[in-house]
Amino acid sequence: MALLASSTSGIFSSCGSLWMGGDTFEVPLELFAVNRRRLAKRLSRIVDGRPFVLLQGGSELPFYDTDLTYHVFRQESFFMWTFGVIESGCYGAVDVISGSAYLFIPRISDKYQIVWMGVRTLEDFSGRYNIRNVHYCDEMEKVLHNAHPSVLLTLKGVNSDSGLPVNEAKFPGIEKFSVDNTILYEEIADLRVFKTDLEISVLKYVTEISSEGHRKVMRYVKGGNKFEYQCESEFLHHCYSVGGCRQVAYTSICASARNTAILQYGHADSPNDKMIESDDLCLFDMGASYFGFCSSVGCCFPASGKFTADQKLIYEAVLAASCAVFKACKPGVKWVDIHILGNQVLLGELVKAKLLKGDPEAMTSVGLGAIFQPHGIGHFLGLDVHDVGGYLSSQPPRRGEPRGIDKLRTARVLQERMVLCIEPACYFIDVLLDEALKDAVLSKFLIPEAIARFRGFGGVRIVDVIAITKNGAVNFTKVPRTVKDIEKWMAGKDDKKYK
Ligand code: GLY
Ligand code: MN
Repeated sequence: MALLASSTSGIFSSCGSLWMGGDTFEVPLELFAVNRRRLAKRLSRIVDGRPFVLLQGGSELPFYDTDLTYHVFRQESFFMWTFGVIESGCYGAVDVISGSAYLFIPRISDKYQIVWMGVRTLEDFSGRYNIRNVHYCDEMEKVLHNAHPSVLLTLKGVNSDSGLPVNEAKFPGIEKFSVDNTILYEEIADLRVFKTDLEISVLKYVTEISSEGHRKVMRYVKGGNKFEYQCESEFLHHCYSVGGCRQVAYTSICASARNTAILQYGHADSPNDKMIESDDLCLFDMGASYFGFCSSVGCCFPASGKFTADQKLIYEAVLAASCAVFKACKPGVKWVDIHILGNQVLLGELVKAKLLKGDPEAMTSVGLGAIFQPHGIGHFLGLDVHDVGGYLSSQPPRRGEPRGIDKLRTARVLQERMVLCIEPACYFIDVLLDEALKDAVLSKFLIPEAIARFRGFGGVRIVDVIAITKNGAVNFTKVPRTVKDIEKWMAGKDDKKYK
């Protein structure tokens, strides 16, 4: 049972964890203390003196001009990684030499705020987060001055997926300190790539909850006559009600029929609002988020519970790519080569299926893979679903050619403790097929009549969460994957198989 550390919140047990109670997972605060120690150790080797790391946590975003905020506040990921603090408006510092952590929280003195939001004292935060040095944000200058840092290391960098900058810490009085923003980003982003045992156990949990949600939805949708958003709702309910996951890692993609060929379906213009017919193919790509730790699982199956010949053909082609990719994932292998392998296996299957003709290696070298799978083979996963560290200046090469490789979110060499999504896919997207048919090089591999048959088919994507181990990889995803297993599951069998 959760023992309450304060009268206002039940999510913290007495033994120092982030926890939603019941059978949900206890995330030990030690996880974040370990991260701070890793960071301090790394920085102490490269920065002289007595440097302090200074990070600014996330702030509530107002909902346009209103006095409401976006539901629900989600902590900034670098700050979460370092401190595990879920409240908004905070700052944190780490003394690199002693390893001591400092937390700065907003001072809530306004009566209106106290009445509407409640009040948290310094002692509340100190007890919850096992951090002795907790002060108000308006005391930062004084507290940091008294601590005598030789330099404040702040976070300046650009996310290689979005191209957006991180929010560098600023506070009134910072100009009185020596500040260096050139070191921290690369170091902390690189540390975030390699997950500790504690982090891996949370990512495993959130993937198991997501897998359970998918399995539930597969049975729920059987026979069709459900709206896509009803499937989304079943998933959200499972993840929150059973798993304690108040948020999802990204907007749920619940696509059916032609919509399965829209890669990021589910956004505001296409809000999972189609009625699923009994003969539709479904592609559901959904992942829960537990205290910021993200999962991403993608399942593809027929609403009828029984694959048609064409659905089976394309599904098994993607599954062959998924199996080959998983088998190849181990330390020392280049992610670019994994992507190329996935493309080659898929294209080889499409040759066997008589949609293409020629040599899959030659096809891949001219970028035909990107016509059928116009995204990379996957990405890092952690506190962000597209986790950081894919391209750091210390980690060449940059995004490259040919077509397809340029979409990769990382080109790093796989190493133990990396956690990734693998997501091979095959879509029939008119605009890309038209482009390929007009292209002198690509068109010679296509069999136009066969391609024509699959226009409007949609697409298949299979998304698994894996962790790289010493000699290979483990798969945390627990959903039926083969055609036979999917059909059995949807028929109400194999209840114990995926526990
Ligand atoms: N699976 C969602 C994404 O990678 O964007
Ligand atoms: Mn993904």
